Amino acid sequence: MNTLTQEPARAVIDRLFAAATAQEDAPPAWPAGWSHAETTAQERADLLAEIYMPVSVPGCRLLYALTRATRPPTVVEFGTSYGISTLHLAAAVADNGTGHVFTTELSRVKVAAATANLTEAGLADQVTVLEGDALTTLRDVPAPIGLLVLDGWKELCLPVLRLLEGKLPPGALVIADDTTFESMADYLAYVRAPANGYVSVDFAVEDGMEISCRVPQ
Ligand SMILES: C[S@@+](CC[C@H](N)C(=O)[O-])C[C@H]1O[C@@H](n2cnc3c(N)ncnc32)[C@H](O)[C@@H]1O
Repeated sequence: MNTLTQEPARAVIDRLFAAATAQEDAPPAWPAGWSHAETTAQERADLLAEIYMPVSVPGCRLLYALTRATRPPTVVEFGTSYGISTLHLAAAVADNGTGHVFTTELSRVKVAAATANLTEAGLADQVTVLEGDALTTLRDVPAPIGLLVLDGWKELCLPVLRLLEGKLPPGALVIADDTTFESMADYLAYVRAPANGYVSVDFAVEDGMEISCRVPQ
């Protein structure tokens, strides 16, 4: 079974990727009032509520494959947006016949859109979409977390990893997107330092993904 190739999920995923690509080709005007340094995470999420910013096509296929391979009981995602990566995680959980995805998003507009997309794809039962700040919403997700995807605002990837680290069993996978961004430097330094308990490898796709396997010392 591969839900990614089946309707209705296939059509929803194709439509969302097409919309994201069209947006990247003709980006909307940068929102008035934008200043990275002077906006909170919530303000940025609201200002950028119409922007998809998805994990790449091969990156999403990788998320599906890793979830199928590892059969995690709990999948956690930081940064839902319109649900493109979430749909791939949910499809894998559905095809595994076990597990559940917890994903979190600051933008209310995006939470509604992602929920509608998951429902249309027939994958809503596999996912809990948590509205709010990941540092709060993810506090009580159930352990063990077999697979963690980090794709929210980059400066929060390390704090979110540290929040959830105690729930990552040996062998758990952590996948972070956009590792070529300067703002990922502290995260990469952390997961690449063996003393912190990860074996970490760069997966060179689009803006870069880091795959880190939990190997506590
Ligand atoms: C790069 S996009 C996620 C793209 C998504 N993974 C996909 O493949 O379609 C990052 C998202 O993280 C959300 N976000 C940023 N900081 C957050 C936080 N502290 N808590 C929850 N969501 C956050 C943003 O609003 C934005 O929609």
